[in-house]
Amino acid sequence: MNKEIKPLDGIKGTIHLPADKSIAQRSALFALLSEEPSLITNYPSAEDPQTALSCIGQLGAKVESTDRRIRIEGTGRDGLCVPDGVIDCGNSGTVMRMLAGIVAGAGTPVTLAGDASLSRRPMKRIIDPLVQMGAHIHAAEGGRPPLQIRRDKAFMPILFRLPVASAQLKSCVLLAGLFGAELTKVIETVASRNHTETMLGLTVQQNGKERIISSSRSNFIPPQNLEIPGDFSSAAFWLVAGSILEDSEIVMPAAGVNPTRCAALHILRRMGADIEMEMKQDAGNEPVAVLRVRSVKLKPADIHPAEIPNAIDELPVLCVAMAFADGVSRITGAEELRFKESDRLAAIQAVLEAGGVRVKAHADGLTIYGDPKRKIRAAQHDSRHDHRIAMSAAILSFKSDGVSEITNAEAAAVSYPEFWSHLDSLAHF
Ligand code: S3P
Repeated sequence: MNKEIKPLDGIKGTIHLPADKSIAQRSALFALLSEEPSLITNYPSAEDPQTALSCIGQLGAKVESTDRRIRIEGTGRDGLCVPDGVIDCGNSGTVMRMLAGIVAGAGTPVTLAGDASLSRRPMKRIIDPLVQMGAHIHAAEGGRPPLQIRRDKAFMPILFRLPVASAQLKSCVLLAGLFGAELTKVIETVASRNHTETMLGLTVQQNGKERIISSSRSNFIPPQNLEIPGDFSSAAFWLVAGSILEDSEIVMPAAGVNPTRCAALHILRRMGADIEMEMKQDAGNEPVAVLRVRSVKLKPADIHPAEIPNAIDELPVLCVAMAFADGVSRITGAEELRFKESDRLAAIQAVLEAGGVRVKAHADGLTIYGDPKRKIRAAQHDSRHDHRIAMSAAILSFKSDGVSEITNAEAAAVSYPEFWSHLDSLAHF
């Protein structure tokens, strides 16, 4: 699908965000492992969370859904079924990496495959610790999917220092750890999103700069009875659009604002963004807020390596904001962006340059030469089948001097199927 984007003066209105993809996928996978049934409300219709449901179904969970309420009867930790065929993780790195931990820990023989984008993503980072824990994993060349996983050795708990700040890797090892009699410990020095430890109630020790999270068979796996909050990563597109479009005021009534997820909010505020955050009642253990953003003149900002994990999914759209800041902004320590659904540093650089923005690429980031008075050149932008690139290109195109086009725009549905209809209903030209 191709989507034409017309220039916009502003966006005014209320946006009901899609439910959080990270929390939704975890709720489904943890419900599979729980002995008690789970009732999850506001489960998203986006592709990645739906993939999580079909995968747990293949492993024996019973899933009933009515509207956005989902009842999941899991198999319990020791009742996973051997699936008939390959488990298709679609576009979702989170599903593949977390499921790999579960089946490797359980010793359930499974092959995990994915779409073309997921088949290019690095899995060596999870293969190494899972093999240390006793799994046998056969991967395609370069440690890429599909992954054939089985276990022919006894389970070995490990002490694992994260070589990259990755919540997916952390979660993978901790989920495998749930199957061991003794503690598996994961050490992180740069905090990544903490949904797994929070939702499973795992023990977290703070030791100076290190966070040590542990799991074992003695952890009770709670049923997942929760209402999923709005996705902060989806809110970020509107926080940027509302800031850069002159005549804007956007309200998002229920955004998840877990502090390990919303560095983008602090970065935008550092850039001078006018964002109000009014805290509401928490959803489960997750903080929720009303977010309100109004147009503003942005200043440039540097994004430092320590901030990257907590803004990882929002960096492409932050680059769009930087294109309109009054000066030069720099992102460093973001090499992980090269291993997402696309090489997001290269992809967003191409989008910005097609619009006439000057960008300098580094191995681990970008320098963006901003100009608040800039008119963006109308262009055709390819999403590279990456949801966040499709939506970031759309936000940039609002500021263009003509009609732009996003090709492969359907990619947005991976996390935000309502994005294009929200855009059409809110935009005033
Ligand atoms: C996710 C973690 C992040 C993020 C991804 C979702 C998660 O990946 O980019 O979209 O739900 O744990 P990494 O932890 O590998 O950086």
